[in-house]
Amino acid sequence: MQRKDIQERQKILVGNAIDQWKSQVENKVVVVTGGARGIGKTLVENLLKSGAKVVAADINWNSSQDFKKHLEGTEEAMSVQMDIADDASLDAAYESVMEKFGTVDVLINNAALVSETLFFPRGQVKTLDTKDSDWEKMFSVNTFGVLKTIRRFIRPMLQKGSGSIINMVSSGILPMHQGGSLFSMRPWTVEMPYQASKAATMAMTFYLAEEVRETGVAVNGMMPFHTRASWFDATEKTWRDQGMVYFMRPSVAEHVVPATLFLSGQDGHGVTGRLIYVPEWNYDHGFGDTKVWDDFSLPPEMEEMYSKLEAALPKYERSGVSHLPFDAWAALWTAGMEKLAGKGEK
Ligand SMILES: NC(=O)c1ccc[n+]([C@@H]2O[C@H](COP(=O)([O-])OP(=O)(O)OC[C@H]3O[C@@H](n4cnc5c(N)ncnc54)[C@H](O)[C@@H]3O)[C@@H](O)[C@H]2O)c1
Repeated sequence: MQRKDIQERQKILVGNAIDQWKSQVENKVVVVTGGARGIGKTLVENLLKSGAKVVAADINWNSSQDFKKHLEGTEEAMSVQMDIADDASLDAAYESVMEKFGTVDVLINNAALVSETLFFPRGQVKTLDTKDSDWEKMFSVNTFGVLKTIRRFIRPMLQKGSGSIINMVSSGILPMHQGGSLFSMRPWTVEMPYQASKAATMAMTFYLAEEVRETGVAVNGMMPFHTRASWFDATEKTWRDQGMVYFMRPSVAEHVVPATLFLSGQDGHGVTGRLIYVPEWNYDHGFGDTKVWDDFSLPPEMEEMYSKLEAALPKYERSGVSHLPFDAWAALWTAGMEKLAGKGEK
């Protein structure tokens, strides 16, 4: 497919998702944490397009003033300053949401520190080189922060006997098997303490889902793919300055929209206690493989880097999966980097 056809296809797929689940999210009050930028901002925009009333909550609106103004001028939207790691901030934000909308139907726990924001911009510190304070900070946002947010925003859902909670985690938490004992999906990405905090949140998701199922509240987890979020360009540039390509071409954040709309429409009597890997879910539900969500709106230097890598990669494709297994990708990436280095094309 041509690049412009892929971009057109992305718009069609997002439109299809909105058409399919609009009736389930229309007029619902949806709180998106980390809604000022990155994946969260894209979710806020598309939930609004789907007719939901949307609260974008974030600790930091500094670089998102235009978006904040846009939300403030939209009757169905609300922006709120909220630190998910701070009890007083959460209490104040919860009160202001209840004052404006009177209830909450869906909570999307999207706010997080990722390795690239805790260790900005390079994003990788080996486990033994991390400090205890890195772990404390990561867990205070990604695990305790999620729990603290749920404790507040689940209240109206429990009262009404319906609601949906979606916790964003990452595929780096996954164990795999090839017929025998388990091993990690991609332990070479150097992501402590981020993945440890997400693994804890995933365990909480499964247990909470079971504990509140009969109250009518659904609790699910979602793992987005490699996505060009707010930190991505700075991280990519740092890697590029060191002569490396930052993994493979990223997806656009819109690839998370279909599964988010679907899960937003669930309650405890529907789909609950599931961990959705977004690329596989998209593939199985007619929303394409990861190639369909490739980002072709990159700045020129970044585009040049990914285009060079893609041209240097040996061709290897197969059916039945939304993307190649990560280990196959790592092998291809290494082969591509060696080819580029051999040509002196760093
Ligand atoms: N981008 C990816 O490739 C990727 C892949 C897998 C999972 N995820 C997950 O997706 C979610 C969104 O990540 P992203 O990549 O868009 O990152 P991002 O940094 O672009 O967005 C995260 C947002 O969370 C906010 N935030 C951070 N700490 C907060 C706090 N204490 N209180 C309130 N808000 C806070 C930030 O200000 C930011 O706006 C995260 O949960 C992340 O773990 C991302």
